[in-house]
Amino acid sequence: MTIETSVLERYSAGAHSVQTELCCPVDYDRSLLELLPQEIIAKDYGCGDPSRYVKAGDVVLDLGSGSGKICYMAAQLVGDGGKVIGVDMNDDMLALARKYQGEMAEKLGEDRVEFVKGQIQDLALDWAAVNAYLAEHPVKNAEDMLGLRAWQEHQRATAPLIKDNSVDLVVSNCVLNLVHDSDKAQLIREIFRVVKPGGRVAVSDIVSDETVPGHLKQDPQLWSGCISGALQEHEFLEAFIKAGFIAVSYDKWENQAWQVVEGIEFRAVTITAIKPAGNTCTDKGHAVIYRGPYSEVYDDEGHVYYRGQRMAVCERNYQLLTSDAYGDDFIGIAPAQEQAGIPWDCATGTLRAVAETKGGVHEDKCSPGGGCC
Ligand SMILES: C[S@@+](CC[C@H](N)C(=O)[O-])C[C@H]1O[C@@H](n2cnc3c(N)ncnc32)[C@H](O)[C@@H]1O
Repeated sequence: MTIETSVLERYSAGAHSVQTELCCPVDYDRSLLELLPQEIIAKDYGCGDPSRYVKAGDVVLDLGSGSGKICYMAAQLVGDGGKVIGVDMNDDMLALARKYQGEMAEKLGEDRVEFVKGQIQDLALDWAAVNAYLAEHPVKNAEDMLGLRAWQEHQRATAPLIKDNSVDLVVSNCVLNLVHDSDKAQLIREIFRVVKPGGRVAVSDIVSDETVPGHLKQDPQLWSGCISGALQEHEFLEAFIKAGFIAVSYDKWENQAWQVVEGIEFRAVTITAIKPAGNTCTDKGHAVIYRGPYSEVYDDEGHVYYRGQRMAVCERNYQLLTSDAYGDDFIGIAPAQEQAGIPWDCATGTLRAVAETKGGVHEDKCSPGGGCC
């Protein structure tokens, strides 16, 4: 049995009857569960609550949506202008989630949730369309296989299941670990592709404290049980940084391991990250002060911030560093006077002259367009 077939079989069984060994205790917002059918709450195979990061008006994509619990919770939070898409590859899970779609639409006052069939490591390929194509063009030989591949490429380019830059928030609850190791980098690149510039990611998953040895990875029960496919705790963050995300953080970390196998601890975590809002960096005279407690910190793009110093930043980074993603870590200091701006041309670690950010007085050594000193 391959990893993929073990995952398909395990979650088909999980859609038909509750699999208690797949359930990890999670502290959900109970007020969001009140609207949900009991069957959806019972067939919960998540390990965290990424719905906490949903904002009104968001387009949310849930990777490996299972019974639809996170989608139906998110649907309450996105409100009238928002939309939620759940992707799953398993027909039985999709049928379970869709079974309550009408009932939930009535309770919410509109149908804000859609469940689509696909693999999360290939979000451009619509598996419903693949099945329709195969019914008309069965693959009987190698030449048919080449034809299928060409058709798939055309589909990805012309009718992607999830379009580029189309999602405000990607969430996932205990699914990334189930994707084959050789597909994990592509999976995270796909997440990056579909998130809008400036968009967010909140993923609850399982990580290991040590490298998982091959014999555990080859065990279909351990893999499909959300254990041996887990990335090691530092690899999980690094995979997102490598794909181009910034502000990558562990927002939740369960001290208590969920499972211990051969001495390796497997625990639930939630990571958050942001896709940079484009590359345009304009110097309009902004500064930030890093509050501490460390003497200096570096962001995911290599910029250094010294504690207590007015650090020169471009407008894009000012908005980012003073956003929710960085909590209260930085004090934002807007330029005293509105400036047209010039292309950013400062080395990391450049300080902003105090005069530039107070009373509108510019020292000679700073350009009036907002130069760095
Ligand atoms: C552990 S369950 C989690 C379900 C749901 N997120 C929850 O919180 O209850 C994993 C789900 O991901 C789906 N899944 C696993 N691998 C997948 C993949 N590569 N592409 C799409 N769905 C996948 C499974 O079919 C199953 O519904």
